[in-house]
Amino acid sequence: MAVAYVIVIVLMLTISSSITVSATDCHESIISFGDSLADTGNLVMLCRTEKQPCSVRSPYGQNFFHHPAGRACDGRLIIDFIAESLGLPLVQPYLGGDSRSFRKGVNFAVGGATALDRSFFEERGIHNLATNMSLRTQLDWFKQFLATLPDGKKILQSSLVLVGEIGGNDYNFPLMQGINKELIRSFAPKVVGCIGSTIKKLIKLGVETMLVPGIPPIGCMPLFLTQYATSNEKDYHPITGCLNWLNEFPEYHNKLLQQELSRIRKLHPKVTIVYADYYNATLRFYLSPKEFGFTKGILRACCGAGGPYNFNISAMCGTLPAVSCDDPSSCASWDGLHFTEAAYRVIAQGLLEGPYTTPQIKTVCPSISRLQPPWSLKLLKKL
Ligand SMILES: *[C@@H]1O[C@H](CO)[C@@H](O)[C@H](O)[C@H]1NC(C)=O
Ligand SMILES: *[C@@H]1O[C@H](CO)[C@@H](O)[C@H](O)[C@H]1NC(C)=O
Ligand SMILES: *[C@@H]1O[C@H](CO)[C@@H](O)[C@H](O)[C@H]1NC(C)=O
Repeated sequence: MAVAYVIVIVLMLTISSSITVSATDCHESIISFGDSLADTGNLVMLCRTEKQPCSVRSPYGQNFFHHPAGRACDGRLIIDFIAESLGLPLVQPYLGGDSRSFRKGVNFAVGGATALDRSFFEERGIHNLATNMSLRTQLDWFKQFLATLPDGKKILQSSLVLVGEIGGNDYNFPLMQGINKELIRSFAPKVVGCIGSTIKKLIKLGVETMLVPGIPPIGCMPLFLTQYATSNEKDYHPITGCLNWLNEFPEYHNKLLQQELSRIRKLHPKVTIVYADYYNATLRFYLSPKEFGFTKGILRACCGAGGPYNFNISAMCGTLPAVSCDDPSSCASWDGLHFTEAAYRVIAQGLLEGPYTTPQIKTVCPSISRLQPPWSLKLLKKL
C-alpha cells in the first residue's frame, strides 16, 4: 500500500516537473510576421472591423482552446509551440490582443497575407487575394508599435523575430485562379526580394535574431490535389501522392530564399538569421505518415464536406455541410489549406529538437526546452 503511494507521488512529481515551463534566458519576446500559418487573431479582428469574409469559426479551435481562437487550425500553431519552448506566453495578435502582454510577444501575421503588395497581383490580372495585407502593411504596423515603446530598441535586441512563413500565398492565390505556371514561377525572385528587403529593414531597426521559414510542400494540400486532380499518374509522387509540379514552387522559392539569407548574413555577420526548413520538416510525415500517427489518410483533410481529399471549395470547414473528423490528431491537414495542431507540433519539434533549422536553433538558444508531450496537459487536468 505504502509502496503504491510512493509510486503515485513520484509519478506526480515527475509529471509536474516536466510540465512546468521555465523561461529560457535567450529571448524575452517573440515578434512575428506572416500569413495564416502564423496568425493568432489579426484576420479575425479585420473581419469584424472591415467586414472581410472570414472562415475562422467553429470547429476551428476545438482542441486546446475549445473555442475559435483566431487560428486557422483545430488548436495551436508552430508559433505557439515556439513560445512554449522559450517559456513565453502565447503571442498576442497586434489587432485586438492583450496589449499588456505585448512586451513578451506581438504578432503582426494576417491570414491570407502575401509578401508582395496587392497592386503587384492586380497588375497581372490576379484579383482573388483574401486580404490586402502584405508584408509592407505588417512592417508599417510594427514601426507604429515600436514608436509607442520608450525602450523599443532594447526589446528588439532580446526578441526572436519570426519573418514568416510568408510568401506561400503569393503562389497559392494565382494557382487557385489557374494562372499560367511559368508566369507564377517568375514571381519567385520578387517574392524573395521582398522578404529579403524586409529582413534588412528589421536589422536597421535593431533586430538581432531572426527565424525565417521556407514554404511547405503545397503539392500535398487537399485544396490543390482536388483542383488539379489528373489521371496522369506520373504527375504524382510515387510515395507521398503529392503533385510534383506544384511542389516545385516551394522548392524553387526556398532555394532562392536560402541564397538571399546567405547574402544578408555576409552583410551583417553580427545578426543571427536562422532558416527554418518547413518544407522538409513537413515532407517527412508525408513520406512515413504512420510513424507520426497520421493514420486516417495523410492527403485527406480532417474538416471538410467529402470528396477524394475531403475538400470542397464550395463547402469549406466552418460552413455547412463540412464537419470535423473524430480524431484530428490522426490527420495532417485540418481544413485542406492548413495543418492540424498535431502536424504543427511535428513540424515545430523538427525545428526545435531536430535538424530542420540552419544554423540549428539549439546552438542559438542552448536553454530552449523540449515541447510537452500532447498527453501531459490532459493528464494534469485529471490530476
Ligand atoms: C484594405 O482594404 C480596406 C477595405 O477593404 C481598406 O479600408 C484598407 O485601407 C486597405 N488597407 C490597405 C493597407 O490598403
Ligand atoms: C529539403 O528538400 C529539398 C527539396 O526537395 C532537397 O533538395 C533538400 O536536399 C532537402 N534537405 C534536407 C536536409 O532534407
Ligand atoms: C460541394 O459542395 C456543394 C455545396 O454543398 C455541393 O453542391 C456540391 O455537390 C459539392 N461537390 C462535390 C463534388 O461533392
